[in-house]
Amino acid sequence: MSKQLTIGSLKKNILDMKRQQHNEIEDTSVNENQSILNGRQESDHSSKIFVKQKSVVCAVQPMNEMTLLDSALEQSCHLEHKCKKGTCGKCTVRILKGQSVLSNPNDLENEKLGSQLGDGYRLACQALFKA
Ligand code: FES
Repeated sequence: MSKQLTIGSLKKNILDMKRQQHNEIEDTSVNENQSILNGRQESDHSSKIFVKQKSVVCAVQPMNEMTLLDSALEQSCHLEHKCKKGTCGKCTVRILKGQSVLSNPNDLENEKLGSQLGDGYRLACQALFKA
């Protein structure tokens, strides 16, 4: 007996696949030294940083002397933002993997995010890559 596929069953399969991909990326934050992403092992020195803003997840290659926001935008990761001055908070992202390549939060981030910093949140417009 063959299994009949319907539009509903196909949509469910696609949603399950998206959920699984999302969970794989979330899991990478658990292990900072090695990650398994898309079935391939990467060392922590692959240097890409994974950020999440609402439902958007991006892998951003660090770019010297640029903010996380500018680097992401340059690499077609369209993170929401507004002021680029650290005041509106619109660019807030959660770092899923690669926090170690970012410099310490500045005063604006400390003021705006407070205890959220401990949960991996950063202001993308203020977060700089370490030189
Ligand atoms: S864009 Fe406003 S705080 Fe970053």
